[in-house]
Amino acid sequence: MLMSITIAQLTDTHLCCHPDAKLRGSRPWHSLKAVMQQVAKINPDYLLLTGDLADRGSPFAYQQLIDLISPLQIPTYWLSGNHDCLSVMREVLVHPLFHAPKAVIIGGWQLILLDSTLANSRFGEGEISPQSLQFLAESLEVELPTLIALHHHPLPFGIDWLDQIKVKNGNELLASIDRAPQVKAVVFGHIHAAFHQKRGNIDFYGSPSTCVQLDLPQATPLEKQPGFRLFHLHSDGRHQTEIHRVLR
Ligand SMILES: [Fe+2]
Repeated sequence: MLMSITIAQLTDTHLCCHPDAKLRGSRPWHSLKAVMQQVAKINPDYLLLTGDLADRGSPFAYQQLIDLISPLQIPTYWLSGNHDCLSVMREVLVHPLFHAPKAVIIGGWQLILLDSTLANSRFGEGEISPQSLQFLAESLEVELPTLIALHHHPLPFGIDWLDQIKVKNGNELLASIDRAPQVKAVVFGHIHAAFHQKRGNIDFYGSPSTCVQLDLPQATPLEKQPGFRLFHLHSDGRHQTEIHRVLR
């Protein structure tokens, strides 16, 4: 029987110590609150948080994240980004609805949460460690339709400074994925913008931040608004996805 699930990807929430804190013209707490009101109307089956959840790794920020998200009662998978502090996340994100990075099977799909953060990165660049590449290889022994989530972009976006802080060893990641025809999509945050590129049979998706967007000269007024990405995953391996924007 054909099953379908929905996953809302929320990324780069950049929560600060105080709910009224400002960040590059945005107020991340208020912006995420508005996003969550829209997510609540959709009521997806799962939430996927792809890093930079706090702007400076503050425990207060992660507690605010729980307070804003947990009332929806939706199972939530999270990844850390270059702005996060993984040890603090592991201490604070202990809510029963919040699940740390791993591989899970939901709705006939495998969701692989891949850590791309690099300790002591100089500019926020990422890397898939040998241990994470091994974890990926072992996870890809499962032959279900697969969605891989990570924080950093593994493909160039086309802006020089941004592409200097993508996954440094993206080619190793792509080589692993190329050997696994069950991989349907790769989704990431970090770029604070909507992105789609097809590479072979695999769709690569970047997604807007729930607060500040990448300053692109060609962006429409709507594309400057906070947003999130919604996935529809079907158990026969098909998927659809779309961006939702929240008007401030
Ligand atoms: Fe970010």
